This record gives sequence, C-alpha cells and structure tokens, in this order.
Amino acid sequence: MIEQQIKTAIRDIHDFPKPGIIFKDITPILKDPELCTKINDAFLEKLQGLHIDAVAGVESRGFLFGLTLANKLGVPFIPVRKAGKLPHTVKQKVYDLEYGTATIEVHTDAFNPGDRILIHDDLLATGGTVMATSQLIQEMGGEVVGFSFIVGLSFLNGIERISPISDNIIILADY
Ligand code: PRP
Ligand code: MG
Repeated sequence: MIEQQIKTAIRDIHDFPKPGIIFKDITPILKDPELCTKINDAFLEKLQGLHIDAVAGVESRGFLFGLTLANKLGVPFIPVRKAGKLPHTVKQKVYDLEYGTATIEVHTDAFNPGDRILIHDDLLATGGTVMATSQLIQEMGGEVVGFSFIVGLSFLNGIERISPISDNIIILADY
C-alpha cells in the first residue's frame, strides 16, 4: 500500500544527472503532506522494539525525513554533512565514488560513544554513502543498529554491501 503510493509519487527523470541514468525524483512526495506522514508512520511501525539513541541523516536528501524521524522517536538528530559545511570540530571520512572521492563529516560532539544509531537516507543505490557513514560513526564509537530508506534500488546490490554492518534494513519502496 505505502510502497505503491510512494512509487506512484516518484518521478523518473531520464538522463539526469548524466546520460544513461534514470533519476528517482522524490520531490513530488514532499508536495503531499499526507504521504509524508504515512512514510514517517511506516518507519516508526517498522522500528518498533528497536532501541535507538540517535538518528543520523545524510546530506542533503537524508535530512528531509531523518530529522522528523528523530523528532518522532524523541532522540537527537545527527547531521552527516558534505565536507566544509559543519562549523565545529569534525571527524571526516573520505570514500570512493565511481569517479574520484567524496568526503563526509560529523561533529565530534554529535553523539556519545556507545550510542545506538539508526542511519537514514532517502535512497539506497550502491550503498557507498551509508557505508562511509557507518564507518565514520563506528570510528567515533557509535553502534549502527539499522538503516532506513524510502527507496531502494535492489539491482545495485546496496543491501549486500551494508548488511554486514546491520541486517536491520528498512526500505519502503523497492525497485
Ligand atoms: C544520493 C542519495 C543518497 C545516495 C545514494 O545522494 O540521496 O544519499 O546518492 O547513492 P549510493 O547508495 O550509491 O551512495 P546525492 O549524493 O545525489 O546527494 P543529495 O542527497 O545531496 O542530493
Ligand atoms: Mg543523498
């Protein structure tokens, strides 16, 4: 039900951001407050019984639902940002992209060692982004207890990549 509603809302954009890529545009979801509420409720239902101390959301689309999810769970939100954006002391992680590298950063006081952290992003593709996020959180003493995504692109095998970190992987709409 929720899966079909998400898929109906998502818009495929061909050849964006480069030729050959079909981009899953989630912005129509944001125009539909009822669907946004349903998405948050679906995450909360699937997370029932899991002890979570904080939610980490990955810039930028992981901020859209990550903060709301943290608020609804009543726990802190950890912004995971692209390099050079966070103003206080940071720890960073460099990771490989198809071409070149990317760097993500977290404030060193964003959470406490031993905290049980849920990583949230809008979409799981190759898993590179949340893998780097997981490694950064683990290096800072956090425990990654699960992942939540609105969309998963199964054919890119992201689940296989991240399941050694935690097999608690929530995907609301799978392609
Ligand atoms: C997209 C998407 C995920 C990531 C998924 O973000 O929002 O964060 O890519 O890809 P992966 O599983 O292969 O790592 P993008 O880097 O395009 O940035 P944005 O969220 O700021 O739009
Ligand atoms: Mg992103």
